[in-house]
Amino acid sequence: MTQPITRLKTIIIPAAGKGSRMLPATQVTAKELLPVYDRPVIQFAIDEAIEAGAERIIVVVCDSKPAIREFLGDTAIASTGMAAGTPAEIVYVNQKEPLGLGHAVLCCKGMTLPGPFGVILPDDIILGRSCMSEMARSHREGQMIAAMKVPEEDTCKYGIFTFCGPVSGICIPVNGIVEKPPRGQAPSSIAAVGRYILQPMIFEILGQTPKGAGGEVQLTDAIAIATRSVPLTAFQFSGVRYDCGTHDGLLAAAIARQASLKAVRMNAPLFIARPSARFDRNSKAHGKDSAGSLHEPASRVLRGPK
Ligand code: G1P
Repeated sequence: MTQPITRLKTIIIPAAGKGSRMLPATQVTAKELLPVYDRPVIQFAIDEAIEAGAERIIVVVCDSKPAIREFLGDTAIASTGMAAGTPAEIVYVNQKEPLGLGHAVLCCKGMTLPGPFGVILPDDIILGRSCMSEMARSHREGQMIAAMKVPEEDTCKYGIFTFCGPVSGICIPVNGIVEKPPRGQAPSSIAAVGRYILQPMIFEILGQTPKGAGGEVQLTDAIAIATRSVPLTAFQFSGVRYDCGTHDGLLAAAIARQASLKAVRMNAPLFIARPSARFDRNSKAHGKDSAGSLHEPASRVLRGPK
């Protein structure tokens, strides 16, 4: 018997970060509203949430970025303009202090609809198949985080997984995760990417999670604590991730987006170049993004723990 697809009725989009890596471009413009060729960064997260079937999208904002709310409004509109069924409502939560990603998610306590919920970090644009939908289709139990291999010198920038068994396949059991380990101390080179499926119990844990890396309440730390009671899975997604919290990532995403739009217009096959050494150098990504072009999955080969 086939397992039902996990319904993600709620998707949280944290968008209260200061964007200090993108100054001066973010001096007066929210980083989530910077353009990726033809649409703002945050629209990719909205499109992905809509495609995953969210009924409620919770956007975590801060007072200094009112334009996000002005842009999105109270009803989710897909950039394709296509609406299937009742459109998702968008609700806003104010994160009063910049206390980290874990704190941003904690601010949504009591606002999620019943069942597991998704989190999309808008800085992490994933072109290709909708990552959140792929995860919902593969999710069976517990919590799940999107994963990709990163160069060893970059492990200090990410949440890094600890594995107990072989690191192969699309859904890989995880027995721990550590946020931004110091150089040389990473348990593997497989990093968390900003797509999560979480269980409501995470709110209780977040409420008791002490500040971690960077003096912030880390979502990673709460998820690590939760592995004592619920399984955690690393999900190797098929698309290509761009770190749009950096100038290079934003530019690479814009170029890939331009190529995908041109390919759709010309009805031609598309090649999306990997934007940086962050992606597995041995794999090639061909594809078409959520605008509807062809996509050939990137390599699913992950190397084992160090
Ligand atoms: C956040 C998470 C980290 C994850 C990363 C992916 O870090 O805390 O675990 O690997 O997103 O982009 P940030 O980039 O917000 O510092």
